[in-house]
Amino acid sequence: MAPSTATERSATKTGTSNRVVKKATQKAPVKKAPVRKAPAKKTPTKKAAAKKAPAKKPAKKALTARTADKHILYQMSVQAPDTDSKTFGRWFKKYTGRELRAWREDFCGTSVLSCHHVKNHKDNTAVGVDFHRPTLDWGIKHNVNELLSDEQKKRLTLIESDVLDVTAPKVDCVLALNFSYQVFKTRETLGKYFKQVYKSLKPGGVFYLDALGGPDVMQQKTDRTRHKGFTYHWEQRSFDPISHRIVCAIHFSFPDGTMKKNAFVYDWRMWTLPELRELFVAAGFDDVHVMWEGTDQDTMSGNGIFRRKEVGDMDEAWISMVVGRKK
Ligand SMILES: C[S@@+](CC[C@H](N)C(=O)[O-])C[C@H]1O[C@@H](n2cnc3c(N)ncnc32)[C@H](O)[C@@H]1O
Repeated sequence: MAPSTATERSATKTGTSNRVVKKATQKAPVKKAPVRKAPAKKTPTKKAAAKKAPAKKPAKKALTARTADKHILYQMSVQAPDTDSKTFGRWFKKYTGRELRAWREDFCGTSVLSCHHVKNHKDNTAVGVDFHRPTLDWGIKHNVNELLSDEQKKRLTLIESDVLDVTAPKVDCVLALNFSYQVFKTRETLGKYFKQVYKSLKPGGVFYLDALGGPDVMQQKTDRTRHKGFTYHWEQRSFDPISHRIVCAIHFSFPDGTMKKNAFVYDWRMWTLPELRELFVAAGFDDVHVMWEGTDQDTMSGNGIFRRKEVGDMDEAWISMVVGRKK
């Protein structure tokens, strides 16, 4: 599994070239962006409007299960890559005093987050690791080739591999997001993964891993979120309190009544924060801590602000970030 740069890959392609919203005491894995700001809307002046009469756009066809692309719907429902990429940069700077330049994104999927990281600064580099070739290829076509210039593509490396097998190149930060590490169901395997992450970091490097929990997440239920043109469904299909095996699925439904069922299905072990902290320590991480999301007192859901805490809240559903540093 030789690392291939996105540039190399795109050259081949063209011939020339996961969801939980925190609920303080009251909803399901729709990933809450660490900090998400609605872009300010500019109101066009009358003069500008008169000058630039918008060309009539052809009416957009309504999405259906047959025409919609599940990766686009996933990115729209679950990810906020522009904001999140900047948030990790800020967190890293606040924590280490250094700029976050070289990062690795494990379980990178369509690599949209890493594309944004390389766009954020001319010296930023990103490595994305995922073992699913079709998803990586989709990301190269729709994200890398659409979002990045040729120069930016050179700063993104995509590695098709199991994350358990990657320890190079050494980076300042490793991110494992949207709970994807929960595919590892034994202490031995998750512990091995954390040790590989530790080896992959430069001294002073930081590992960020998100976690979810709360009684609401253990309920059999489906939460729905409406988006423009489709509805996102997060189904918590089953939870076994003995093994902590949790099976969840994402479906999408459309105005014509059609549905993309089981667009993504996750068979995970839901790890608890104390287990994760212990495994971080066992892998050698220093200053292992949890960043807990605060509560918006009006909505009683997450406010997008994560702070280091030693004691969490008895929220019905929560997401948090486990952080460890390499000495
Ligand atoms: C839920 S998606 C995460 C996508 C994206 N990182 C996000 O935050 O939304 C999980 C991804 O992890 C990949 N994956 C699962 N197990 C893996 C493993 N052991 N090694 C590498 N990739 C893995 C899958 O192919 C899939 O693309």
